[in-house]
Amino acid sequence: LSHLFFTHQGIPYPITMCTSETFQALDNFEARSNDIVLASYPKCGSNWILHIISELIFAESNKKYEYPEFPILECGDPEKYQRMKQFPSPRILATHLHYDKLPGSIFKNKAKILVIFRNPKDTAVSFFHFHNDVPDIPSYGSWDEFFRQFMKGQVSWGSYFDFAINWNKHLDDENVKFILYEDLKKNLTAGIKQIAEFFGFSLTGEQIQTISAQSTFQAMRAKSQETHGAVGPFLFRKGEVGDWKNLFSETQNQEMDEKFKQCLAGTSLGAKLKY
Ligand code: PPS
Repeated sequence: LSHLFFTHQGIPYPITMCTSETFQALDNFEARSNDIVLASYPKCGSNWILHIISELIFAESNKKYEYPEFPILECGDPEKYQRMKQFPSPRILATHLHYDKLPGSIFKNKAKILVIFRNPKDTAVSFFHFHNDVPDIPSYGSWDEFFRQFMKGQVSWGSYFDFAINWNKHLDDENVKFILYEDLKKNLTAGIKQIAEFFGFSLTGEQIQTISAQSTFQAMRAKSQETHGAVGPFLFRKGEVGDWKNLFSETQNQEMDEKFKQCLAGTSLGAKLKY
């Protein structure tokens, strides 16, 4: 499927969603200090957090958050950044980019960045199903083939491990916070509280509880066609921790454990991402 990617600064991006003109325009993007940046590798739960934040905005301001046509910052046409100048604050800037590929204005203007991680095994399985299930995007055929490409980083947005290594250097930076998909699954209310505190939303316990009830996998899947159109049910597929056990062979499990060790052993992120 390599013809479906174009490579920008060493990373493959899907030609249907990203262009070099947009990347060029992104360099000059003017971030605001109150922009809400959400960084994640694909399939780690960005739509989940986007929903939580838009609910936080709604609860505080009573204004429905209007998503741009492509919620991912680096996707879409190059004029989108001009249009985004008109958007009211706070804007949500969701991205799958590495830390050092983000526009410099995010750091210059000290926008807060939330990084979402999910263990690589479930991430790979979610990515595989997405490619295989959604009618309009190319299928890799078999799981074994997808696994091979995932391990080589020959998938959209490149290698999971490169993304993790890159962000891992910045998780303790000022204005950066990271959360785990698995922790959110364990205690959604606590996770939402942390997200709200980090971005400075002041809501009551009752408001947080309401958002929590609206942000479970079941609640979001039930509304997925309304919120995300035909792709909704594929995007909100299973929402579980440990689904990798249904697809990984023992050899693949060992191969990924080995890669994981090489890339993240001894880091606190590595310790947290083990599943
Ligand atoms: S994408 O295409 O990269 O934007 O996908 P992304 O939204 O990052 O990740 C999709 C996976 O997140 C799961 N998801 C959830 N899990 C638990 N609770 C809630 N509320 C929730 N919302 C989305 C979604 O089901 C995808 O994972 P899988 O394992 O495929 O089900």
